[in-house]
Amino acid sequence: MTQTTPTATITFSDGRREAIELPVMEGSMGPDVIDTRGLGQHGLFAYDPGFVSTASCASGITYIDGDAGLLYYRGYPIEQLAEHSDFMEVASLLINGELPTASEKEAFVGTVKRHMLLHDLMSNFYRGFRRDAHPMAVMVGVVGAMSAFYRDSSDAFDPAQREVAAYRLLAKVPTIAAWSYKYNIGQPFMYPQNRFGYAENFLYMLHATPCEDYRPNPVLARALDRILVLHADHEQNASTSTVRVAGSSGANPFACIAAGIASLWGPLHGGANEATLQMLEEIGDVSRIGEYINRAKDKTDAFRLMGFGHRVYKNMDPRAAIMRQTCHEVLDELGLNDDPLFKLARKLEKIALEDEYFIQKRLYPNVDFYSGIVMRAMGIPNSMFTAIFALARTAGWIAQWQEMISVEHRIARPRQLYVGPGRRDFVPIEQRG
Ligand code: SDX
Repeated sequence: MTQTTPTATITFSDGRREAIELPVMEGSMGPDVIDTRGLGQHGLFAYDPGFVSTASCASGITYIDGDAGLLYYRGYPIEQLAEHSDFMEVASLLINGELPTASEKEAFVGTVKRHMLLHDLMSNFYRGFRRDAHPMAVMVGVVGAMSAFYRDSSDAFDPAQREVAAYRLLAKVPTIAAWSYKYNIGQPFMYPQNRFGYAENFLYMLHATPCEDYRPNPVLARALDRILVLHADHEQNASTSTVRVAGSSGANPFACIAAGIASLWGPLHGGANEATLQMLEEIGDVSRIGEYINRAKDKTDAFRLMGFGHRVYKNMDPRAAIMRQTCHEVLDELGLNDDPLFKLARKLEKIALEDEYFIQKRLYPNVDFYSGIVMRAMGIPNSMFTAIFALARTAGWIAQWQEMISVEHRIARPRQLYVGPGRRDFVPIEQRG
């Protein structure tokens, strides 16, 4: 350590060990970190299940300040990107590190468009699923199967192959997601149209049929594009950490993103948008809000207020505020201002935010609280909400995977606090019991 490197000293009250000095690392923003890599030399591990206070990496992609409710992609505030940018530009920013120039953006968008088609044999995978297969189950399977079709872009250690894989994933995940819905409802798959923008194309593949011309409503396409921007990345959340851990072994990019999709599906993570809508439909009426607020506070009841709370945000999730505004715009456009679920959600938010339990535990609406209402109003089925979250987060997963694999990384291999039985000899079965 140089003289200027600040250090943290650990002393042991039982006197069994010498004091340990560890370097303190400072980032460009946010909390400093104690570099605990040297603990192993002292026969010690850091213990932090759920990684509540653990930085798993150094990253320059997304910054969150949970107390202030800030979210920056490569330094740009989410509010500005949601208002002035679009998903393709944000995907390029996250992956390449800078906002693209006009010609760079045109090239990026053009390359993504030319990769949106799937290898035609991939459509056979769908017929192996039950008709009612959840789109996330299909996405885990079909995205993972990309490794069998795109082997010329599966070497994680080849920068050129990484770039092709990034485009293929960004471009094909919307097609795979839309086709999982078409398979659910028994309609033919619709091929992407290069005349459409990214969000427009997804709505086209979701709602069009071969029987008539279909052009997505531009207000809804813009709203969906903004939803994709809001969900594009979020530093080291569970699914991104899953992608990083999978990628640390050198696994191919398609398998890593499939692992991220699997993790995102959980109701405590990306599955919360679907669960929030189911919760609102179950509550059904403003008169029942109190009953559910009490259940959320009851430690003997496993029920949690879906769409509320966050590991990092102890203030309003900035994405939730933008999502609420988007909700207004979409419901306005569709003449659904009296949408009972939106009114119920607003009332639930108000009551929860005034409740001592939620105030004391600093539980606020998160990105999933309003997103389901917006997507439902747009005619997107509940089962597709998390698939759309996965579609958007693919941009962030790619950026995080690229960052991990392109720096001096090591295979992720946490240690443990062992609490099992001590050494003991085998007991033959006739001597047991
Ligand atoms: C996403 O990490 C990310 O960045 C994720 C995400 C992203 O963009 O990638 O932002 C996307 O996943 C948003 C979160 C969506 N999930 C939900 O809306 C599900 C409901 N919320 C929770 O289950 C919970 O808040 C988590 C999972 C989001 C956070 O869990 P933590 O950080 O482990 O917090 P915790 O479970 O330890 O809760 C702390 C306390 C507990 O009470 P005590 O044990 O201290 O008495 O708050 C309580 C919890 O019981 N609590 C809730 C609650 N969330 C937390 N009580 C009622 N309802 C809730 N929603």
